[in-house]
Amino acid sequence: ATERTFSIIKPDATRRNLVGKITARLEEAGLRVIAQRRIHMTQTQAEAFYGVHRERPFFRDLVTFMTSGPVVVQVLEGEDAVAKNRAVMGATDPKKAEPGTIRAEFAESIEANSVHGSDSAENAAAEIAFFFAGVDIVG
Ligand code: CMP
Repeated sequence: ATERTFSIIKPDATRRNLVGKITARLEEAGLRVIAQRRIHMTQTQAEAFYGVHRERPFFRDLVTFMTSGPVVVQVLEGEDAVAKNRAVMGATDPKKAEPGTIRAEFAESIEANSVHGSDSAENAAAEIAFFFAGVDIVG
C-alpha cells in the first residue's frame, strides 16, 4: 500500500554536500519527497526526537552529533515506503550495510551514518508530526 515515512539527511552528509546524491538514491528506489526542510536541530528537539534512546549509552553523543550541523528532514511517500527506505539506507552500522546502500556508500560510522529512517509506520506518523504540519506535506 502507499505509505509515508520520515527521513533525515544527517550532519555528516550535509557537511560533505551529499543531499542531492542521497535524495537521488531515495527517488531511484521509488520514493517521492512530498515535504522537505533544511534545519539546524536544537538540543531540545534532538533530545525529544530521540527520546526512546534516552537511556542508551550513546544518547549524549547522538544528540551532540545531530545538533553539530544542518540536517534535511523529509517526508517520503511510496509503495511500502517504510520498508523501501530501510532497504535503500542499509544497516545502521555501515560495516554491516549491504553494498550499494546509502550507508555502505556514504556513512562514516555508526553515529555519523548519513541518514535516519523511521522503523515502522506508527513511528513514521509520530516523526512526521514532530517536524511537519499537515499543510506542508504535498503528496
Ligand atoms: P538512527 O536511525 O538515527 O537512530 C538512532 C541513532 O543512534 C542511529 O541511527 C545511529 O546513528 C546512532 N547510534 C550511535 N551509536 C549507536 C549504537 N551503538 N547502536 C545503535 N545506534 C547508534
